[in-house]
Amino acid sequence: MPTITINGVRCEFEKGERVIDIANRAGVEIPQYCYHPGLSVPAQCRICLGEIHAPNPRNDNKLEPLMGGKLLPTCATEATDGMVVYTKSPKAIANQKAVMEFLLINHPLDCPVCDQAGECTLQDFSYRYGRSASRFQEQKVKQPKKNLGPNVLIYSDRCIMCTRCVRFTREVSGTGELMIDGRGNKSQIDVFPGIALANDIASNVIDLCPVGALLDKDFLFAQRVWFLKRTAGIDPLTSSGDNIWVEHNQGRLYRIKPRENKNINTWWISDEVRYGWKFVHAENRQRTPLRRQHGTLVESEWPAAYRAALEALRAGPLALVVSPFLTCEEAFSLARLARSIDPSARFAMGPVPFSGEDKCFPNPAAGKPFVIRAEKAPNARGVKRVLDAMGGCADFGTFLDQCRSGQIGAVLLTGNYPSEWATQDTLDALKSPKVVLIDTHSGHAESIAQVVLPSGTFAEKAGTYENCDGILQAFEQAIPNQHESKSEGQIANDLMAIIAGQRLEEHPPEFGAAIVDEQPGQVPAATEVVNLPRGPLFNAAAVRVEMADAGMVAFANDVALPPGIEQIEPDMQMVEL
Ligand code: SF4
Ligand code: FES
Repeated sequence: MPTITINGVRCEFEKGERVIDIANRAGVEIPQYCYHPGLSVPAQCRICLGEIHAPNPRNDNKLEPLMGGKLLPTCATEATDGMVVYTKSPKAIANQKAVMEFLLINHPLDCPVCDQAGECTLQDFSYRYGRSASRFQEQKVKQPKKNLGPNVLIYSDRCIMCTRCVRFTREVSGTGELMIDGRGNKSQIDVFPGIALANDIASNVIDLCPVGALLDKDFLFAQRVWFLKRTAGIDPLTSSGDNIWVEHNQGRLYRIKPRENKNINTWWISDEVRYGWKFVHAENRQRTPLRRQHGTLVESEWPAAYRAALEALRAGPLALVVSPFLTCEEAFSLARLARSIDPSARFAMGPVPFSGEDKCFPNPAAGKPFVIRAEKAPNARGVKRVLDAMGGCADFGTFLDQCRSGQIGAVLLTGNYPSEWATQDTLDALKSPKVVLIDTHSGHAESIAQVVLPSGTFAEKAGTYENCDGILQAFEQAIPNQHESKSEGQIANDLMAIIAGQRLEEHPPEFGAAIVDEQPGQVPAATEVVNLPRGPLFNAAAVRVEMADAGMVAFANDVALPPGIEQIEPDMQMVEL
């Protein structure tokens, strides 16, 4: 394999790779602003310049400086075998200092109030490559703050004109809303007159902006980024399987960001996924179990609700309806529970929402389009795969027909949809069987339920989703269960324990208690971790092993596992006051 040496580190590379890609992969830091692997390469910020030497075949392969020893952009230079690159030579360092000084001339000193502080490469590179003091005595050029679209603000005087945002709208989304207006130090990024930055993947420009110029209205002043922890997640709203970071603090979600996966979402996510998590902290979350008494649903303790639920479910013949928003592990645990109540229990999948058609965006650097899926559920294929392996999975329409014809006496019904899902047709069909509803939000389905058990959203559980291309991907729990809810998997474990005659123990979920720790400088926990009676704690990884033992070997071999929880590390030491 060909090799290149960058700042003394020898790296192997594939033909066609650029010097900067090889350095990024090998962990050799070369400062960069305008370069992004998902965009074209204009080589315009000039901070990545290095001295490059290569063997000259016309001179016995002796190492000679390229371009007569001029500095070259490492982002635009293809690596060749035997190349030697220096970005820490006196010449390269002098260039880095000059570029930093130039970029900071008109940059405001507003880091303390800037949302990007803590994840700003201008801030980071200014420490590492800039001068320690400014020589600029003149008046800085002031630029306006503007609204670019429904989700994005621009603070123009922070912009360093890397043009990543402009290239994104021209190349990736193909919508071209952004442009550079003006010249020299009066240049600013703007939208064309009368056109808002409102395409379906527009907010990726916020992540692309290396400074705090493009800001997320939704996250503006919401949280200092060094307090955030991020947990690897999977798109919980559509069948895309897009990889995401769920960023949270003290038991609350603050934002969702794309997580790079070259095979699926590349570097991007849709705005639908980015902003679609608000239902997690919605006012209408089911907070406590409910059970019907004299025709009215009243709040209940978990043990009494479990007793009432088992009584209703034993009325049989039983049907289990698993929502396509549940994980594969939960489908497996609920199916096992249903079979332990009624060995001939039938299985069906809940309604799978669709909206319009798949939407494709060009995304040329990735060599494949970025697609927003019309199927608005993350795990219809996974739930079907599990229920089929456990005896068959009817579609929701067939299940409703079975209810109407009196073949079903009791239903264990799961919701977990981000918005209202029960239609009048569904409610009419479910009038005669006894219904135990497990759901996250209060909605119409309550009206036909004997018992309602509050459950957790995607952020409050771990598990596996199968995307529209049949790829199984696991994700981790980000925040503790809200209010008195439990994951559907935990509810299945609790009911199985009761059926087996075990006592439920009053204790907090171990994982949930650990992630609302206190850190210096933080406000106290926003979420209370509640002690609730529980059976054996639900563990998605352990359930996958059981699923593989039960013949579903894909769950042992084919599940892509996520990285663990990461904390965005502050550069400064935090002190307790
Ligand atoms: S707004 Fe941000 S991404 Fe766009 S050119 Fe300026 S610095 Fe670059
Ligand atoms: S990153 Fe190479 S010139 Fe900007």
